[in-house]
Amino acid sequence: MSYYPRRKLVMLPGPTNVPERVSAAMMKAIINHRGDEFRPLLKSIMAKLQHVLETTSDVVVLSSSGTGAVETAVKNIVRKGDDVVVPVFGEFSTRLAEQAEEEGANVIRVNEEMGRAPTPDMIEDAARRAKSLKAILLVYNDTSPGTTYRWLKEVSDIAVANGGFIVADAISIVGGDELPQDKWGVDMVVGASQKCLAAPPGVAFVSVSERLKRYIEKNPPITSYFNIMKYLDYGSRGETPFTPALPLFFAFDEALSMVLEEGMQRRIARHSITASAFYDALSEAGLHPFVEQQFRSNVVIAVRHLEGVDDITFRRIVEDKFGVILAGGFGKLKGKIFRIGNMGEVNSYHVLATLNAIGGALRLMGKIVDSEKMLMTAENRLKTLERNNPTISGHM
Ligand SMILES: Cc1ncc(COP(=O)(O)O)c(C=O)c1O
Repeated sequence: MSYYPRRKLVMLPGPTNVPERVSAAMMKAIINHRGDEFRPLLKSIMAKLQHVLETTSDVVVLSSSGTGAVETAVKNIVRKGDDVVVPVFGEFSTRLAEQAEEEGANVIRVNEEMGRAPTPDMIEDAARRAKSLKAILLVYNDTSPGTTYRWLKEVSDIAVANGGFIVADAISIVGGDELPQDKWGVDMVVGASQKCLAAPPGVAFVSVSERLKRYIEKNPPITSYFNIMKYLDYGSRGETPFTPALPLFFAFDEALSMVLEEGMQRRIARHSITASAFYDALSEAGLHPFVEQQFRSNVVIAVRHLEGVDDITFRRIVEDKFGVILAGGFGKLKGKIFRIGNMGEVNSYHVLATLNAIGGALRLMGKIVDSEKMLMTAENRLKTLERNNPTISGHM
């Protein structure tokens, strides 16, 4: 008989582990979504999201996965014939460009190979080439190569200077790294529940700056489910236009409470420390990060496979023998990299258990990796974390 841990450790770049407190919230009894109990719930989610995003913008909460929120952004802003700039450096930015094209936009792609990202100068050039820039659509953290775009503020300034809106797909990063929407002048942040906010999948959101709201009011979109004006109208009285996924809303509200209890600064610091533990420990063992240092994500750790390691076999052993779930690469990176979600609850336990599983699986596959050096390096980096942040997940 085999022994399996009670729950596997979900180290995917979303969905991620959900704290028990959050899962328990889903068991609450169903309420009337047009009644007195729902209004404070929706208002609470909106207010907490404003806090996370450091914004006074209205926030629209959707019962959908992240793609629904991306579609909301595109359908409410982009019109046929619009000039739209999309920096493309991974699968999600490729998809974003395609979604804008589906709306009939003239998409100016600013391409960079995966593992890097286009510079603000390249984006500025493209914005200037546009006859009349409607928007820059930027993926802040492209989850497929594990790349964070560190010049979002600069790109916001470029969008404004060229008369366009700036939209940030922050689905895989919101709650795990900096994103002060108002300070950085972002018109719309697109987010989802199941990544760094550590809630179950199924809720997504967009925040809408005042100037963007004015545009949408004057130019109503042609969409029913993702029509922002309907959400703002109903949202002002604490309702959603359509039936919300109530158990997921309960859970999301609880997850956001946990985010605020920890505090965004501590949460961001924790993600940054666990990320450096992963990067440094894996590098020590000869497992090299895929992304160039300056573009490396703190929330998605992408790692090149060792020569001769079959991705599927490796991840199967990591999961079946060690109870840890990792992601592979996809698109052009399939088979070449594996990815670790450093998201949400992530703490020293998650880092050490994951590294142990990676080292153990590689050894079982006959590869020589210095697991001791790997664990000691991680342990060293994690010391700051334990001093600053003694919380440990309810995962054991
Ligand atoms: C950056 C980014 N955008 C969009 C999506 C799509 O989100 P979903 O799978 O929740 O629809 C993802 C999902 O991983 C993502 O990472």
